[in-house]
Amino acid sequence: MSEHVLVERREAVQIIRMNRPEKKNAITSAMYSRMAEALAEGDDDPAVRCHVFLGVPGAFSAGNDLADFLAVATGGGADLGAFEFLVALAGSRKPVLSGVDGIAVGIGTTLNLHCDLTFATPETIFRTPFVDLGLVPEAASSLLVPRILGHQRAFALLGLGEGLSAYDALAAGLIHRIVPAPELEEAVLVEADAVAARAPEALMITRDLLRGSREEIFARIREEAEHFRDRLQSDEARAALMAFMERRSG
Ligand code: COA
Repeated sequence: MSEHVLVERREAVQIIRMNRPEKKNAITSAMYSRMAEALAEGDDDPAVRCHVFLGVPGAFSAGNDLADFLAVATGGGADLGAFEFLVALAGSRKPVLSGVDGIAVGIGTTLNLHCDLTFATPETIFRTPFVDLGLVPEAASSLLVPRILGHQRAFALLGLGEGLSAYDALAAGLIHRIVPAPELEEAVLVEADAVAARAPEALMITRDLLRGSREEIFARIREEAEHFRDRLQSDEARAALMAFMERRSG
């Protein structure tokens, strides 16, 4: 259980809200577990027709909690919760929507690759500074991002950590629509109601056909996770994570 994830049903729509505003929605292991559990519960409940991920104003998510990364990197932490969550997300049987405002870092960006419709505000910047942290991409982003953006923009995003504005993300087909911040959640929920009103079996089959092989996605998530765990033990990652923590406490 995590008090930093709020799960709510609005008729046939399940809303999964990351709610840790004081840390810009950095995601802890407990939050990953709760979100994976909610996806499984919603998938198993015929009354739920789709999932919606939301954050808080100004912060969809600042990515994995870096203190958790550092704990693993220095041998003091258990394994990461992200892997189980990513498998649950990539394997989710029902459509997934997201509403993104402001900060969308790391998994705050890559989570959306597994969504069927992402709405973002003009202020949103998608950023994946994996290499700056001595780390490597996750969430099968190394497979999915080049498919959407082409190699060069994928390299800039995933290799160099360059930000991608909401407008560039829209032009590239990474997101569905840009909505002003005050209208974001209503727009996502109206669309979620429209998704929920469609014939659910036909929509699920259509979605599966569009998404193609899940096995390929799961295999890439596993392959990335092996590198990721390995890199977390590296001097490069330890130095970058300690530098972040020292900046915070300095
Ligand atoms: N893990 C843990 N704590 C985080 C965090 C993260 N990923 N991102 C932000 N926080 C914490 C900060 O340490 C700070 O805590 P404090 O108030 O106790 O010092 C709080 O959230 C607010 O963050 P702050 O940096 O003051 O906000 P900002 O608006 O100036 O900057 C970010 C926001 C997201 C740009 C910046 O916090 C950042 O770069 N975070 C790291 C993102 C990252 O690298 N994620 C991993 C990707 S793989």
